[in-house]
Parts: sequence; structure tokens; C-alpha cells
Amino acid sequence: MQIHAPRPLAAHRPSTPLRGQISVPGDKSISHRALMFGALAVGQTRISGLLEGEDVLRTAAAMRALGAEITRDGADWLVAGRGIGGLTPPDDILDMGNSGTAARLLAGILATHDFSSTMTGDASLRKRPMGRVIEPLRMAGAVFITRDGGRLPMTIQGARDALPITYRLPIASAQVKSAILLAGLNARGVTEVEEPEATRDHSENMLQHFGASITVVPHGRGRLIRLTGQPELRGADLIVPGDPSSAAFPIVAALLVRGSRLTIHGVGLNPLRTGLFETLRDMGADLTIRNARLQGGEELGDIVAEHTDLTAVDVPAARAPSMIDEYPILAVACAAARGTSRLRGLGELRVKESDRLTATAAMLRAAGVRVEIEADDLIIHGTQTPGGGGVVETHMDHRIAMSALILGQVTDQEMRIDDARFIDTSFPGFVALLRQLGANIAYLNR
Ligand code: S3P
Repeated sequence: MQIHAPRPLAAHRPSTPLRGQISVPGDKSISHRALMFGALAVGQTRISGLLEGEDVLRTAAAMRALGAEITRDGADWLVAGRGIGGLTPPDDILDMGNSGTAARLLAGILATHDFSSTMTGDASLRKRPMGRVIEPLRMAGAVFITRDGGRLPMTIQGARDALPITYRLPIASAQVKSAILLAGLNARGVTEVEEPEATRDHSENMLQHFGASITVVPHGRGRLIRLTGQPELRGADLIVPGDPSSAAFPIVAALLVRGSRLTIHGVGLNPLRTGLFETLRDMGADLTIRNARLQGGEELGDIVAEHTDLTAVDVPAARAPSMIDEYPILAVACAAARGTSRLRGLGELRVKESDRLTATAAMLRAAGVRVEIEADDLIIHGTQTPGGGGVVETHMDHRIAMSALILGQVTDQEMRIDDARFIDTSFPGFVALLRQLGANIAYLNR
């Protein structure tokens, strides 16, 4: 629940380039999973670099309400796990705030714990579809009661003797895949998920890291994943890399503002997350990876971004899973590029924190950029100097808010956003960090 008044901001082209060496907060997907798997393991899990954004704090609160002990130890977080099937009924409704990942992954855990619980979220999350996880999780024997349209609030009665699920994902969704795997941890037998297109595999990597018996084999364009139920997960040490989806914002800012050069240290480079970087390179971007390394089963490296005059791009639908959260900021890059870009196959954007396809188009139009939506494609007519001058409605969506503020760094006239509060769900400190690099962002009404 957001109890503070909306926080409007203004952004405008800075008079100097953006320069500096920074790191960005920990990966959101990995942070949620670290807390959840840690709570299901036996023994202690120490997490370094956990994202302390509101979404992840909701997961921490929910896992505590379910009996896990979660504490801070200096900059690290410690989780004393309850073991598979060892969570206990919560005293109250679980409020997952703005976070679809927290809600859907937790639904997987609760589906195979033999007690009932109720989950809700903020006005944005209460609009988002839960049917995509309910359909497979029912196969384990869990019962779900939702509001009409499969929306939160939702009550879950977990299965007593859970059955393993076999499921072919009808959509490319790491959340649905992960919910099934989390449910499978407390089912007897082998859980099998077939994904027609590969999606982020942090759950699979982490299960391996915690000692589960899991196999992942290529299967057409996707993968077949098999998890043996009721393993003993052992608490493990985890280091969370910087979130590539957060790094995307300062990177695009540096590419767009003339004379800029920026280094971002320790960014996660899991190949199933790097579609944006590949696309920016297709647009001619000067992006270099240094110091590539492996840490706890995840790739990471330092990224150097230098200003480049970008050219338009045609992004195939098949690339969407590897950059699903990056389309709003890619759209900003396309708006400031030479030529007309086409971003294909963006249907899933309609069910994110906002209808992101519509919200992204509206953001660009507020800056005077010509945009069309054709079926699930977004067409952007780039102009190297977008006019700006408009107000962007952020619709409780952190990525629309941050994208609009980066767009403002290249507009002739000031851009405004109606509300910056939701930025804290994924990127606490975003405004201060961008300002420290030289970005021109100002608070209004203060
Ligand atoms: C996530 C998966 C993606 C992504 C979300 C995080 C995850 O959602 O948009 O921000 O951590 O598994 P979908 O599974 O709905 O594509």
C-alpha cells in the first residue's frame, strides 16, 4: 500500500555528459528466489547483494509470516530455512504489494503446503492474471478461490499429498515455470516442465546450487526441465549480481546523452536476460563487457557504455523472453534513434505492472514521438531530438517511470512524470544515482 502522496518529477536534457563508475542494486528475480529457496532449505543461507526494493521486501515479509527466520547481518541477509514442506500457516493475509513475481512464485510454494492462506496485492497487482499459475498448480491437488477473472485476492488450500505436475507452458513465462518447480519441491515424484521458448533460468540454477536433483535439456527452441520431488535443499551462500534490467536505464542514458561514458560494475549477464544489450548493439551502440566471470552459477561482468548515434532496429518476437522487462527503455532508445523501429510480439506487455504496451506508446507520444501499435507490435518513428514537453502517466509502473525520466535526458523541453514512488519497487536510489552521474532530474512540489 502506498501511503504517501504521489511524487511528481521533471527531467530535462543535461548541459554536461553523464560520466562515472557505478553499480546497480541486486537482481530482482534472483533476490526473490534467494529468499524463497533459502526458506525451503535446511540450515542457513547467507545472501550478499540482495535487492532491498519494496517487491523483494514483500517476499521477505511473506516468508517470515510463513515461519522462516530472516534477518539482516550487516549488508548481508540471513535465512534460517524450514525445510521442504516445513512452512507454517500465516496469521494474516499475505500482501505482495506491486510484485507479480512474488505472488506467482509464492502461489507455487503454497500449492503444496497443507494449509490455507490468502494473498492480495496493490491496485496494480490485483488487476493481473493469476490463472496462468492456477491452471498448472491445480494439477498438484491445490484448490484456489479468486476474484472473478482469476485476480487477487486469492485463497489457496494447499494439497496434502501433492502430485507432481507435468506441464507444457502455453506462454513464455519464467514465473509460471518457477511456480511449478517450487510446487514440485514438495510433491512425490518427478515434476516436468516443457517450455517452448527458453526463459530466465535463475530457479533452475539456484535449485542446482542448493543441491536439488534437476535436469535441463534443450528441446526445440526451448527446454525440458525435470525436478525430483522432496529433495533435501541445503542452505547455501549466494551473491546476487547487479540487475541487468536496472542497469538498462543508466546504460541507455549514457548512449543517448552526447559525450557520455559510464561503467557499471558487476551486472548479471545470464544469456537469457541480455536481449536488450544485443539489440542495442544491433542499433550500433558502443557497449563493452569487461571482466566477464561466473559466480554461484550466474554470469556477470562490467559494462562500459559510451554515447553513440543509434539507428533503428527490427526486433524479432523470439527475442522477447530475454528482454521482456526492457521494452519501455528500448522504446526510449528507438525514439532517439535514426529511422523507424519495429518491436515485435509484445502481447505479454499488456499484463505487466501496467498495460505496458499502451503506457509505452503514451509515454513516447507525450514527448511528441510518432508511434503506432499494430496487433502486438510497437512501431516507433525515431527522431534524434524528441520534443518533450508532456506529462507521462506511470500507472503504478516503475519501469515506465524510469524510462520517462531517461527520455527526458534528450528532449528539447522538460518531461514530467506524475509519480515516482513505484521506482522503489525495483531500483531504490535511482534518482540520486542518475543525478550523481549528471542527469537532470528534479523533484516538483517540494
Ligand atoms: C520474472 C519473469 C518475467 C518478468 C518479471 C520477473 C521472474 O515475468 O517480466 O519481471 O523473476 O521470473 P513473466 O514470467 O510473466 O514473463
